Amino acid sequence: VDLSTLNTLGLPARAAHLVTVNSTDVLRKLVASGELRDKGPLLVLGGGSNLVLTQDWPGCVLHIDIRGREHLGLVEGAHLLRAGGGENWHEFVRWTLAQGWPGLENLSLIPGTVGAAPIQNIGAYGVELADRFDSLEAVSLDDGSVRCFTREACEFGYRDSVFKRHEAGRWVIVSVTFRLPESWAPVRTYAELSRELEARSVAEPSAVDVSDAVIAIRRRKLPDPASLGNAGSFFKNPVVDEVSLRRLLGQHGDMPHHLLPGGGAKLAAGWLIERCGWKGRDLGPAGCYEHQALVLVNRGGASGGDIMRLAAAIQHDVQARFGIALEPEPRVI
Ligand code: EPU
Repeated sequence: VDLSTLNTLGLPARAAHLVTVNSTDVLRKLVASGELRDKGPLLVLGGGSNLVLTQDWPGCVLHIDIRGREHLGLVEGAHLLRAGGGENWHEFVRWTLAQGWPGLENLSLIPGTVGAAPIQNIGAYGVELADRFDSLEAVSLDDGSVRCFTREACEFGYRDSVFKRHEAGRWVIVSVTFRLPESWAPVRTYAELSRELEARSVAEPSAVDVSDAVIAIRRRKLPDPASLGNAGSFFKNPVVDEVSLRRLLGQHGDMPHHLLPGGGAKLAAGWLIERCGWKGRDLGPAGCYEHQALVLVNRGGASGGDIMRLAAAIQHDVQARFGIALEPEPRVI
């Protein structure tokens, strides 16, 4: 099976088997009967938008196509909404807004599926999934049983959850329930978003206005995977302690940084990469995007190895110049 159209970087790779499931019951039966295990190692795939395939997959790719959107009710002043893990994230967000349930607008236009969103706790423009999350249901790949994970059980962090750590590879997220407070106010703490809203002369933006502004910003800076292969931000924004922050600011007074409540700061990886001269530069068929240095792109015909060579060259230069180790954000296979 060819996987090149199933990953947004458009990387060539093949898998021995591909199984698409469109219901929780079908998935449970496939696991419980041992049918999936017999096909070798399992790679769970949603939208393929956070994945770098550097080799063929020897076993089975499990494509989650479980749909469904449901308003569960108004509970303690919040709309509870449940969506199937295979729902397209952005379409789900726009649907909630059209129904009059705001809260997810800052997360507009993020590629991928609902079921993949909690794994890396997607976040953008001042909001992260954890802020709007109620719970999720997942099917165990060990025995097909279903477990509900509360917000606490997911242990969300910056681009992080238990599903990237000790529970990695053990679950398939089949549905996510969101909690959207009935009383709503726009989140415009992110400077670029508040500037965009001002430029549009919307003094009291609706949730749809915020969504439209986010979409406009993203279209300017982030390439559309349909025309230029990419996996969004390729590195996490690094966190440094106070000592390193003081040293760095002493050397680079204009370095963007976001102070953290517990001390230290989160830095802008895109800025560090741009300062190393990589923005808009290519290494073979892999490139560093000209409008946002944190995004690596497939200029055409790149392999996963080409992308990882470019990533390593960038990591090397950022380490040499700033003493900071950049950590890849997508999952590398
Ligand atoms: N910057 C540069 N040069 C660049 C890119 C950025 O100097 O080439 C500077 C900007 O000027 C700004 C700062 O870096 O001062 C932050 O840039 P931006 O607002 O574009 O956001 P980011 O930190 O690069 C993060 C997320 C994005 C998310 C945006 C908005 C991570 C790894 N990335 O990017 O998420 O959309 O903030 O909230 O946290 C993703 O995860 O795939 C993703 C796109």
